[in-house]
Amino acid sequence: MIELKGRKLVLGVTGGIAAYKAAELVRLLGKAGADVHVVLTEGGARFVTAVTFQALSGNPVWTDLWDPRMGNNMAHIDLTRDADAILIAPATADVMAKLVHGLADDLLTTLCLARECPLLVAPAMNRQMWENPATQRNVGQLRGDGVAVLGPAAGEQACGEVGQGRMLEPEALCEALIDFFQPKLLAGRRIVMTAGPTFEAIDPVRGITNSSSGKMAYGLARACAQAGAEVTLVSGPVALPVPAGVQRISVRSALDMRDAVLRSLLGAEVFIGVAAVADYRPVQSADHKIKKTGSELSLTLTPNPDILAEVAGLPNPPFCVGFAAESRNLDEYAEGKRKAKRLPLVVGNLVQDGLGGDENLVVLYDDAGRHPLPRMPKPDVARSIVAHLAGLLCSRC
Ligand code: CTP
Repeated sequence: MIELKGRKLVLGVTGGIAAYKAAELVRLLGKAGADVHVVLTEGGARFVTAVTFQALSGNPVWTDLWDPRMGNNMAHIDLTRDADAILIAPATADVMAKLVHGLADDLLTTLCLARECPLLVAPAMNRQMWENPATQRNVGQLRGDGVAVLGPAAGEQACGEVGQGRMLEPEALCEALIDFFQPKLLAGRRIVMTAGPTFEAIDPVRGITNSSSGKMAYGLARACAQAGAEVTLVSGPVALPVPAGVQRISVRSALDMRDAVLRSLLGAEVFIGVAAVADYRPVQSADHKIKKTGSELSLTLTPNPDILAEVAGLPNPPFCVGFAAESRNLDEYAEGKRKAKRLPLVVGNLVQDGLGGDENLVVLYDDAGRHPLPRMPKPDVARSIVAHLAGLLCSRC
């Protein structure tokens, strides 16, 4: 994952116990390609030393407004001059109060006041401090000033209490930063998607399914949400976490999926069918486990509804996107599906190594022709599809 490649980030670490998690955050941000410069407040340095952050970031750590290492003695301006963002994690109630009032009595608050780049804060404090009206007022004011407030989460706290105020975990903060930098190409659009395989029951313990991992759909749902869309993901059984900002509706069979999709469509501008919906289901699912008898067993199958074709055939259909996974003749089959289901966009995928890999080779088919994309990791494929989709939606407005 190098989704923060080329980004320069200033990470402010203030004095809360969650400062120990900032060390892991620096590691994750660096792994994602970011160039991280840590500014440690006096309170932060009581929890974790500068040496730790220096070793993890590979950059000098800054603590002092009067640090002589900066040739022109302008650390308070120079550090953020070419930064893409400042993130304060953990952000104490105290630093947030200072930011609200424009105080600049140490290096971090001075940098924040003198900055031109966006500021994000990840609050971390005891639940009573968080719930205090003064803190809530300050958080509201920060949001009003255009500061992004990430979290906090609820849970067990270092003080032994349980409640709101825990800093978001480093993984979630890293993801939130990646989201923050994505262009909001689908802002305000509502998207319904299907994902994963379906499971067609034969009896209470057996069924027909396929090896769809759901990774492409979940990646695309995440990319749509990162681009500012409101996403509902109607998902068959997969073991994947719900992407941030996505609402998942879990279903099992194709019939359940169809019902959930039709119920979710109100107000949706886009429908994307990514699920590998089983084409057939057993005519009847046995109420009890079928016992073996030693003789032949026949299953009679009946066709499932084609969800995508049904949605595309509605009187006022949303913009419908289909997926075509083919092992040969990709152009012919994908374009054939596009025409047959009357879809403005089909994502064709040449499946050579089976479903479920981390990379994908796709070609986009629309009214203007075919648009091949290079072989890429699935998150990058997802972002390219989002950009193409956003372009098509804009050309229709
Ligand atoms: N699809 C759907 N409902 C179905 C079957 C497919 O919504 N019952 C959607 C898929 O989500 C995908 C597209 O239709 O977007 C795939 O088209 P389809 O022709 O059904 O593909 P395959 O099932 O792979 O067809 P075939 O087996 O004929 O290749």
